[in-house]
This record gives sequence, structure tokens and C-alpha cells, in this order.
Amino acid sequence: MNANPFVYGKEVAGENFYDRREDFSRLVSTLEGGAANVVLYAPRRYGKTSLAKKALGELARRGFRCVYFDFMRVESVPKFCEAYASSVYALERGTVRAMRRIGKTLSALRPRFTVGDDGKPALELDLGVKPTVATLEETLDLPERLADPKHPVVVAFDEFQEIGTLSPSLPLEGVFRGCIQRHRLVRYLFLGSKTHMIKRMFADRSRPFYNSAAIQRLDVPSGEESAAFVEARFASVGMRIEKDAVQTVLEMSKGIPYYVQALSALSFEEAVAAPVRHPVCVGDVESAARRLLESKSDVYESVLQALSASQRTLLAALARKPVRRFDAGFRAANGIGTLSGLHSALAVLLEKGHVEATLRGYEIGDPFFARYLTESVFHVIE
Ligand SMILES: Nc1ncnc2c1ncn2[C@@H]1O[C@H](COP(=O)(O)OP(=O)(O)OP(=O)(O)O)[C@@H](O)[C@H]1O
Ligand SMILES: [Mg+2]
Repeated sequence: MNANPFVYGKEVAGENFYDRREDFSRLVSTLEGGAANVVLYAPRRYGKTSLAKKALGELARRGFRCVYFDFMRVESVPKFCEAYASSVYALERGTVRAMRRIGKTLSALRPRFTVGDDGKPALELDLGVKPTVATLEETLDLPERLADPKHPVVVAFDEFQEIGTLSPSLPLEGVFRGCIQRHRLVRYLFLGSKTHMIKRMFADRSRPFYNSAAIQRLDVPSGEESAAFVEARFASVGMRIEKDAVQTVLEMSKGIPYYVQALSALSFEEAVAAPVRHPVCVGDVESAARRLLESKSDVYESVLQALSASQRTLLAALARKPVRRFDAGFRAANGIGTLSGLHSALAVLLEKGHVEATLRGYEIGDPFFARYLTESVFHVIE
């Protein structure tokens, strides 16, 4: 059996995780020190969740009690209250003390204490009852109320920028900020992949979370680290990859861990399927890239469907090369009318996370989306 030594599309740990030693120690030491909460942000697929979970594992070994909560799992305030209180209840191992406290806090929502599918203590609420701001505040205060000073709690909120989508009417950012800043026994790690949104949340003076956390940006790992990882993983199954093939993986993936792993996994399949056994070569990586692009094209097509014509035009222009300044020459060359139209198209693309502001200028974050835009004809019908 030829087990593929690469993993993509799910969180990675153990031998599938490459070091990120500096990012890891900085994250662990800031949270352990407790002087500040932390925001860890990076575009999609850079490895935030994997890194955060590894850091939580380490902090748990050092005596912290850790909760991981993903905002992508919940779509409303009642669902949030149910899922979050459940996570805290599981952290408390379903003790009677936790049951009493949660029962009292959420009595209006008629809690029922159960065991989840994973065998952990869980709870269900009557989601027909609308929670008030006070209920939400009390839910957020649960870890602080239950924490034991000898074992402070670390809460990681993944995709935190999504709190804005939970309720059209409640001022959630303000409510969250108000509670969190009172907590003495709980440290928070906020993760975000829509970099523009998360940066604004924490760096814009007019927003509740302004200046409330230490900001840590996660970059792609260094080329050497990624190359060593790819070579070592192939070697672990007795295969060799040629140097220029490794370079092709790094160039096509732009070093983004998900794409490094996905391209390597598919290159492995190409090499194994070949009639003659050979070291993994550039040709294998190129075939892998074509397959990867093909597998993503439906998703990219629906992303494009959801955009306006001017947003698509701007995206196509940025796919060709990053742009620092949108002067009249750029607009004329790309058939983009007014400057204000361009800025509103750009704002949407940044907000949705399709475009990133980097040192090179504005560019498309996903290298395969950029490739799709430059290589394919758009099929979108107006
Ligand atoms: N340290 C790492 N070592 C090796 N591969 C990694 C590492 N971190 C991430 N990856 C690769 O990237 C993929 C995505 O990782 P992860 O889900 O942690 O990223 P993310 O930034 O949270 O992504 P998203 O923005 O989609 O939430 C993993 O499936 C794996 O293939
Ligand atoms: Mg993630």
C-alpha cells in the first residue's frame, strides 16, 4: 500500500505539521504570560487553526484549561449561546457545579444537559426563546465564573470576524468586548482569515476591540522550511523529489501550507501511478497543478457568479500582477471607469477575502484562483 504522506483540507498535527517554531513559541508565551489577549490573523489556509490547536495543546500541558470555538459553526445568537455554553460545560467535565451555574445563567432558555455525539457533556437550549443581551453577557461570562485561579482558561475564537453575521440588530462587538475586558482568569486568542475585516476590528479607533489585543500576523513559512518538509515527507515513504520539482511546488503554492501539501499529495499520486518508478519531477507537479485547478474550478466559478462585472474586471487585472497604485493608466488599460467605482469594487474584494493588501500591493490571495482567472474564459452570464 502506498499511503500518501501529505494531508490537506483538514487540520494537521504531529509529523504532518512543520515547525513554525517562532510563531508557535511567540503565541504560547504571550498567552501564558497573560499580559494581553492575542489576535492571530492570516489569509485562508495559512495554518492558523492547526497552529492555534497546537498552542492550546501545549498550554493544556502547562496547566491551562483550553476551549476552542469556531464561529463558522454557528449562525445566530441562540446557537452561539448553546454551542459556547456546551463547550464550557464540556471543559468543566459536566460537573454538578457547572450544571448548576449554567442552569441558573441560562434558565430562561430552558437548558437540558445531555451527552454529545462525541461522548462529551453537552447541553441543549430552547432555541425558540430569544436570548437578551443580558443572557448573551452571562453566557460569555461563564468561563470566568467557573475558572479556577490555579488553572486559568484560554479561549480560542476561530473565524472571529464572523461575529458580525450572528445578529443584524444586536451590537455584538461591543457586548463581547465589554465582557471580555472584565475577565481576569480567561485569556483570549482571536483567529481570523478575512484579514481586512479582522485588522479593522482591532486597529480601527472607532471599533470596540480597538487596541485590545496583541496582534500576531502569520506569514507563510520560509522556503527552506517548506522545502525541507516536502523532501522529508517524500523520504518517509522511500521516495525522492527532484530539487527543481520542490521549487515548482513552492512557486505554484506561493509557500501557502495548504497548497504545498495539496500539490505534493497530488504529485505523489502522479509519481506512484506512472508505469516506471522515478523520483518526483517537475512534470508530475505540473500535472498535479492541472488536476488541482480543475477540482477547484466549480468553486471559483461560483465565487465569480456572486461578484459584479466591475469586481470581476478588477479581479482579473490583479490576477495578472499585484498593483500598488490605481492610477489613470491602470484604469484605462483595464477598462475601469471611475476611481470611486474602482474603490468600491476593491472594498468588496478585500472584505470577502479575495484580495489581500501586501507589501507587493493589492493581490489575489489564492494563487490557484489567480491562475484560474488568467487561464480560463469566464463563463459568467450577466
Ligand atoms: N504547520 C503546518 N505544517 C504542514 N501543513 C500545514 C501546516 N499548517 C497548515 N498546513 C496545511 O494547510 C491546511 C490548512 O490548515 P489550517 O486549517 O490549519 O489553516 P487555516 O489557516 O486555519 O485555514 P482556513 O483559513 O481555511 O481556516 C492543512 O490541511 C495542511 O494541509
Ligand atoms: Mg482555520
